Amino acid sequence: MTTSTAPGKIYLFGEHAVVYGEPAVPCAIDLRARVHATQRDDDRVRLSASDLSLDGFTIEYDGDQNARPDINVPENLVSAAVGYVNGAIHQARDLAGGSDTGLELTIESDIPLGAGLGSSAAVTVAAIDAVARELGATPDAETVAERAFQVEAAVQDGEASRADTFCSAMGGAVRVEGTDCRRLGEPDLPFVLGYDGGAGDTGQLVAGVRQLRETYDFADTTIGVIGDLVERGERALDDGDLDEIGRLMNFNHGLLVALGVSSRTLDDMVWAARDAGALGAKLTGAGGRGCIVALAEAADVATALEHTPVCERAFEASLTPDGLQQE
Ligand code: MEV
Repeated sequence: MTTSTAPGKIYLFGEHAVVYGEPAVPCAIDLRARVHATQRDDDRVRLSASDLSLDGFTIEYDGDQNARPDINVPENLVSAAVGYVNGAIHQARDLAGGSDTGLELTIESDIPLGAGLGSSAAVTVAAIDAVARELGATPDAETVAERAFQVEAAVQDGEASRADTFCSAMGGAVRVEGTDCRRLGEPDLPFVLGYDGGAGDTGQLVAGVRQLRETYDFADTTIGVIGDLVERGERALDDGDLDEIGRLMNFNHGLLVALGVSSRTLDDMVWAARDAGALGAKLTGAGGRGCIVALAEAADVATALEHTPVCERAFEASLTPDGLQQE
């Protein structure tokens, strides 16, 4: 058996705009997905998952993805999850020289699905690595990141950036602008996350922004403004200026609201965190439902979120330097 793990992430700045070539700065956080891969004697694939959203998920199929698990999770999330894992197996088999050996895969994840914390990227990165190694290949983290991006782009109908997958593979804070992906380092940033218990559909949300951008010039301008803001954010990160980082997170949230990807639950949690003294708060990831990230040391912020009716769970998270790893 081979086991690989990869972290989830939050976006400090730049989600959505990064799809159109603007820069973004995601940061890996200390919530991880773990994938165990074992070769089988036949050519079938059996996938089991135990995580916050897919507890008890077990599916056995012959690679055609026809089978569907009988669980209480929206169909689109299940299809996406199976799509990511299937794509990861395909990429890993390719890295291993085209093997068609059957596989037993078990996924364990601390990262809620579709909540803006990069669960699909973490599972895809860890799955490519675990399966490739189980089949005898030894890809480096950059290669796995690029293969994982190909999987995300296919599942999201070609509309994906390299941000989530590169961040998960490399760990730390990273900067992604088109094909230019760089690790920025490991700034000491205290985060509090609020989770509304829901999930956004990344493909749909990305398509919604694209439509807005095609309809209104000023939506395209908004995307450019997010890019400008990210450049300022990078300078604030370099200077260790947490107050400025917080202000820019607030600004970034406002622009994401304008692009139509926030929601009442996300906005309520953002305001609860700000009212409790967070330096800044914004939605993270595709939006719709899921998580907000607040820049805050104060335990008061987690407590305030816990008392916010729409918040199902609040927890502290910190940046992790550890990207893809083998166990
Ligand atoms: C989703 O986690 C982040 C988006 O920017 C999409 C992407 O970058 O692929 C919304």
